[in-house]
Amino acid sequence: MSWLITGGAGYIGAHVVRAMAEAGERTVVYDDLSSGVRERVPQEVPLVVGSVLDGERLARTLAEHEVTGVVHLAAKKQVGESVERPLHYFHQNVEGLRVLLEAVTAAEVASFVFSSSAAVYGMPDVDLVTEETPCLPLSPYGETKLAGEWLVRATGRATGLATASLRYFNVAGAAGPALADTSVSNLVPMVFEKLTEGASPRIFGDDYPTPDGTCVRDYIHVADLAEAHVTVARALRSAPGHDLTLNIGRGEGVSVREMIDQVNAVTGYDRPPTVTPRRPGDPARVVASADRIATELGWQAKYDVEDMITSAWEGWLHHHPEAARS
Ligand code: WQD
Repeated sequence: MSWLITGGAGYIGAHVVRAMAEAGERTVVYDDLSSGVRERVPQEVPLVVGSVLDGERLARTLAEHEVTGVVHLAAKKQVGESVERPLHYFHQNVEGLRVLLEAVTAAEVASFVFSSSAAVYGMPDVDLVTEETPCLPLSPYGETKLAGEWLVRATGRATGLATASLRYFNVAGAAGPALADTSVSNLVPMVFEKLTEGASPRIFGDDYPTPDGTCVRDYIHVADLAEAHVTVARALRSAPGHDLTLNIGRGEGVSVREMIDQVNAVTGYDRPPTVTPRRPGDPARVVASADRIATELGWQAKYDVEDMITSAWEGWLHHHPEAARS
């Protein structure tokens, strides 16, 4: 019995592998290493280098490792790039998932956890987004995640595969410096980059209808997110036939300005941010209701924003030793 973690060499995937191992679960990583990093996969965990579009290799891997559950994180995730390359995104994220589900159902795997995103909601006009809030994604990336949820749910209903779609809110932090996010495509690493270059961090617009005018998000520590996967994976295993859709957030809104203030406090830079024009497509506020997973599975986040920023900063210094010297 083991769990196949697709995308397990990625930032979030490697944290899921780690949390699964700590919980005593056996895992196998399946990753094409297009953005994943081999060194993130622990020595004792088998790594199969392959694409989710390769049905034969998937079938062989599921059989060889006696896989009984899959956590599917392998996907393209850059919102901007998805606008420029929608066909690539649909091919990788939707066709890749379809091929994987074919292999999974043929192998009679019992459980399937799908990595979805708050991007499925688009620009929600509610204070707290529940799983019932209408899904109106604004980018091809968000559309691929919503289509993915449909594929997963329909397959579960048709075959009895126990499924869950986890809608991640804004993920930050690291469970150890080596596991930190090495891309610079989200707020926290983008602020680190500016500060360590000797520049001011940027706020993309301060004229939003929010308390301080900057966008509000629900930040979640990647270690908490990884724990949520373990909880959900075990729930699926013990209750076949499940069909879950769950927000993974903290239910707490934090503004961009508050985040930058915290980064300054943690790093000791204390450099005031510069306000630049709004970034197209940014919703003013996206904050989860985290009630459903708490009520149904008893899970809730443990870490706060300071923990996220402190651990992310340790990771940044690990990957950018020159920043530590300057
Ligand atoms: C957060 C806030 C920016 C950088 C995206 C995807 C979402 C998910 C997570 C993938 C926004 C502001 C940022 C900076 C700033 N992706 N910002 N200055 O856009 O909420 O979510 O990433 O799975 O689907 O949409 O995250 O970290 O890019 O931005 O003011 O230098 O920080 O405008 O309001 P976002 P983000």
